[in-house]
Amino acid sequence: MNEQTNAVEKRKRVFSAVKPTGNPTLGNYLGAMKYWGRMSDEYDCLYAVADLHAITVAIDPKDLRENSKRLFALLIAVGIDPERNVLFMQSHVKAHAELCWLLNNYTMFGEASRMTQFKDKSKKAPENINVGLFDYPVLMAADILLYQADIVPVGDDQMQHVELCRTIATRFNNRYSPTFTVPEGKVPTFGSRIYSLSDPTAKMGKSEGNADGNVFILDPPEVIMRKFKRAVTDCDTCVHACEDKPGITNLLTIYAAINDITLERAEREFAACDYATFKTRVGEAAVEVLRPVREKYEALRRDDKGLMEIMRVGAEKAERLAARTLEKVYKKIGFVRL
Ligand code: TYM
Repeated sequence: MNEQTNAVEKRKRVFSAVKPTGNPTLGNYLGAMKYWGRMSDEYDCLYAVADLHAITVAIDPKDLRENSKRLFALLIAVGIDPERNVLFMQSHVKAHAELCWLLNNYTMFGEASRMTQFKDKSKKAPENINVGLFDYPVLMAADILLYQADIVPVGDDQMQHVELCRTIATRFNNRYSPTFTVPEGKVPTFGSRIYSLSDPTAKMGKSEGNADGNVFILDPPEVIMRKFKRAVTDCDTCVHACEDKPGITNLLTIYAAINDITLERAEREFAACDYATFKTRVGEAAVEVLRPVREKYEALRRDDKGLMEIMRVGAEKAERLAARTLEKVYKKIGFVRL
């Protein structure tokens, strides 16, 4: 086991996470989760359900529990093999909350205040601008730095948080001595920002906006088809990606990301298509890419004990790696260790 761990440690590390709020979308899938499973061919990968992040917005205990299990199973269903990756629930590894507290002291108030997501979420829920919401990117930095990750695959909206993580790591390393790997954020070429089908200027979000505009990974095929058929386009007839055609561009991006092709190639495929046929074909592509995910997910949810066991094993593996970094950090800062 040790030999195996050492061999794995020579490879570059990847860390990423998803938070269990709302219902995971095609945006989460195409912007991030789709690529995670295959990364373990080349990298040593850790993926988490970021449940501690989920309570920065008001959430019912029942929903938090169900969303967390659902997302955990979904990560396996999209292709993350728990034997080849470390897959775990963030709150099962206490080092995340501990390192977050330590890193708070190396994060400037002004830096955290500039985070776009904090500003957006504060506007959306002015009655609940809690300190956790403000501290959210520092917890995210702790997630990443605990595992000395080299690469953080995320969608476009998380890049500002990864930048802050780099700032915190660099500051700490300069103040003491090299302690943390300074990670690089990595967004996919296509699909790093998928927009709502009903409002192609707004991000497709798990818990946001019009349900018809958000395609959920677990939506049944007929629901997916209905949402695509109703997708907002424009009064033109030409399937072409450009700034003036956000709806069409979004659909072309979805198609390109599903099929791992360029936007230009997607455009060529639909050059002679009317909008109705185009929307149907993009919908069918989404149905087909999500079908095996849904089937695998349903099988996993039928075996709750099995799922909990995978969670336990993942937490143990993550805990061991996290403990090393945490201990190093305590020592560097000057804490008396037993
Ligand atoms: P979350 O849960 O909002 O989203 C998970 C991943 O999906 C990407 N994403 C999208 N990509 C393209 N188009 C969209 N419409 C879209 N919506 C979401 C996100 O960019 C993200 O990569 N704070 C993080 C979770 C987290 C994390 C971390 C990520 C916690 N700790 C450490 C990386 C490293 C979040 O809320 O993602």
